[in-house]
Amino acid sequence: MPGSSKFKVQSKEQPRFSPVQQEFQDRYTLQPTTASLLSQAITELASHGVLNPRLDAEVLLAYVLRTNRAGLYTRLHDPFPPEHVEAFGDLLHRRARREPLQYLTGTREFWSLEFKVDRRVLIPRPETEVVVETTLRLLRQSAICNPQSTIRALDVGTGSGCIAIALAKELPQAEIWATDISSDALIIANENAQRHGVAEQIRFLQGDLLTPVAGKENSFDLIVSNPPYIAQEDLDILQLEVRGWEPLVALDGGPDGLAFYRRLLSKGPAYLRPNGWLVMEIGHGQQAAILCLAQNQPDLSKDGCARDYAGRERIVFACKVETCVN
Ligand SMILES: C[S@@+](CC[C@H](N)C(=O)[O-])C[C@H]1O[C@@H](n2cnc3c(N)ncnc32)[C@H](O)[C@@H]1O
Repeated sequence: MPGSSKFKVQSKEQPRFSPVQQEFQDRYTLQPTTASLLSQAITELASHGVLNPRLDAEVLLAYVLRTNRAGLYTRLHDPFPPEHVEAFGDLLHRRARREPLQYLTGTREFWSLEFKVDRRVLIPRPETEVVVETTLRLLRQSAICNPQSTIRALDVGTGSGCIAIALAKELPQAEIWATDISSDALIIANENAQRHGVAEQIRFLQGDLLTPVAGKENSFDLIVSNPPYIAQEDLDILQLEVRGWEPLVALDGGPDGLAFYRRLLSKGPAYLRPNGWLVMEIGHGQQAAILCLAQNQPDLSKDGCARDYAGRERIVFACKVETCVN
C-alpha cells in the first residue's frame, strides 16, 4: 500500500535503557504521535491538490481513532496506536487519489441527520437543504400542510434518499414516493430510511423519472426533484472528487444540462393535484431557461425561485393551476 508504508512503526531495538527510560523512548520516539502523523498527512494531501488538507487529515485521523475532531485534539501528543497505522495509511492513500472524504467515512450530514453514502449515490450537498426548506414553506403557506390531511409527495431521483427522508421527518402525516433509475442508489436510500425510522412512510421505486408512478395521475400534492443538471461539456471540468468518483448518472443533465427539467415540466403537472407544487433544484445560471420552460406550461402558475445560502438562485418552483369547472 503506497499510503501505508510511510506510517510503519519502527521495531524496538535491544533494550539499552532502564524501564522508565524505555517507556519514555517508546512513548516519544519510537512510535509516531498523532500530531506527527497529522503533520505528515497534511503534507501528503496538500501535495495531491486536496483543497482542505488539514481538515481532511483531522477527520480521517478522528475516524480511525473512533473519536471526533475535538477528541483528536486531546490526544495529539499520544503515541498513535500501531494497530490503526495501516488503516489510516489506506484512507490517506485513497484521499490522496481524490476519493471524496464522505465516501471514506461512509457518512454525510444532511438536515441534521446522518446519511450513509458510498460510490453508489451522490453525496448530499448543503444547498439541497434549501429544497427541503422551500418545499416546507410552500406547503405551509398553501395550507396543504394540514396535520389532519395526508400529503402525498414524490421525490424524483432520490439518490441517498436525503430529500425524501428529511421531508418524512418533518411531515409525519406525509405519504412519500421516491424514484430513481439506479437500483444501487435505492438500496442506500432504503437503508437510510430504516436508519431514520421512516421506512414505513416512503415507497422506493426503480425506474425512469415518473414512469414508476404511471397510473397515478392527479395524485401528488408535491413533486420534488434534484435532477442531474450538469451540461455534458462541463462534466470534464468538474472537481476531480466529483467527476472521478460520484455516479455519472447523478450528474449528466444532457447536452445543455436541461434535459430533466424539460421532461419534469412537461410530464410532471399531470401527476399533480390542483394547487400541488413542483419544486426543483437547479444549477448555476439555469434559472432563466427553466423559468421560461415553466411559464410555457399552461398547467403551471405561481412560478418563482429561491436562493441558496451563498445567495445563488438554486430552486425553481411552480404550482399546478386549479381546474376550472364551468
Ligand atoms: C443530482 S442526484 C440527486 C440525488 C439526491 N436527490 C440528492 O439531492 O442528493 C440525481 C439522481 O437522479 C437519478 N437519476 C438519473 N437519471 C434518472 C432518471 N432518468 N430517472 C430517475 N432518476 C434518475 C440519479 O441516479 C441520482 O440519484
